[in-house]
Amino acid sequence: MNRVRLKVNGQEREIDVESCRLLVHAIREDVGLTGTHVGCLTGDCGACTVLVDGASVKSCSVLAVAADGAEITTIEGLTGEDGLHPVQRAFWDEFAFQCGFCLPGMLLTTCELLDRTPDPDDAEIVQAINGNLCRCTGYASIKRAVRCAATRMPSAEPASPDAPDT
Ligand code: FES
Ligand code: FES
Repeated sequence: MNRVRLKVNGQEREIDVESCRLLVHAIREDVGLTGTHVGCLTGDCGACTVLVDGASVKSCSVLAVAADGAEITTIEGLTGEDGLHPVQRAFWDEFAFQCGFCLPGMLLTTCELLDRTPDPDDAEIVQAINGNLCRCTGYASIKRAVRCAATRMPSAEPASPDAPDT
């Protein structure tokens, strides 16, 4: 067994795992946060996406021991004291999910995108969510939600005032 230290959603955690333990299983079963979903386990669907030191990572493609010392954000870490995160609220308002299976990964991928590209164009949105499969909602509403979230992030520029009449 290997001792692995993680900071998960701001809390220090220590777990003992076998060398072959996948990060997604460690998060779900050893840390006890089951909002991270297991889909394909082959790195294709993105349901298991979490943020590792701020970067979106498919946690079925990483060994838990490789994440030793990392800061991890899971879907449980998105909602703050003020309620839903702006990205969660935008997906809700734009009807950008149905069954919700893909949602944790989709939201965390969107958070990473908006962190590095606060005002993404459509091509950048498509590129970012390329590895997150949704089988039931349709990507038009998901793209709309990402654009909406971009306007609501704390870093978003305030809307320009209308030009004065001349
Ligand atoms: S479960 Fe990890 S990418 Fe599908
Ligand atoms: S909402 Fe069902 S898979 Fe995306």
